[in-house]
Amino acid sequence: MGPLWLEIGFGGGEHALAQVRAHPEATLIACEVFENGICSLLSAVVPEGEEADAPLPPNLHLWTDDARVLLRQLPDACLDRLFLMFPDPWPKMRHAKRRFVHPEQLGLLGRVLKPGAEWRVASDDPTYQAWVRNVMAGQTLFQVAEPATTRPDGWPPTRYEAKALRAGRQPLYWTFRRRG
Ligand SMILES: C[S@@+](CC[C@H](N)C(=O)[O-])C[C@H]1O[C@@H](n2cnc3c(N)ncnc32)[C@H](O)[C@@H]1O
Repeated sequence: MGPLWLEIGFGGGEHALAQVRAHPEATLIACEVFENGICSLLSAVVPEGEEADAPLPPNLHLWTDDARVLLRQLPDACLDRLFLMFPDPWPKMRHAKRRFVHPEQLGLLGRVLKPGAEWRVASDDPTYQAWVRNVMAGQTLFQVAEPATTRPDGWPPTRYEAKALRAGRQPLYWTFRRRG
């Protein structure tokens, strides 16, 4: 089997579909809980009215529940790449534990990623950007590099990114690597 990738919170599915089309050698598990987003992805790949049983691209699997439930069930070191594109910022501190970039979630993410696996995170939210810097500076599971300020090659655009750019916000694009 080729590389196994996971996208958390695919929104309308633009990034997930672009990745599976560009990388037939990889299998992507795409997670989303928002029904409209799931419908949007399905309507892009299956004919109207055939959503229940039309086949998906063979290298795309959908998880339509909370990504944390899936993460807890995955075996150790099974993922080659993880995508977290423009996650909900959860600005209220009492909701901060819902963030995937969180000291209490990093152990779970680190467990399922292979040594050397890439974790891509993009965010346009200044509070979340500062949070990512702080959380990632205080951990040892991932190698950290400065984020890019323009979308790197091989990162397909997303709907939230387009919205952020239209509103004049500056996205940051991080690539973290799981230490061996
Ligand atoms: C701000 S949107 C970004 C969507 C998309 N990645 C983009 O860039 O356009 C964040 C998405 O993550 C989804 N999400 C948040 N928490 C999730 C979770 N625990 N499991 C699965 N999806 C989640 C939300 O439903 C939402 O669609």
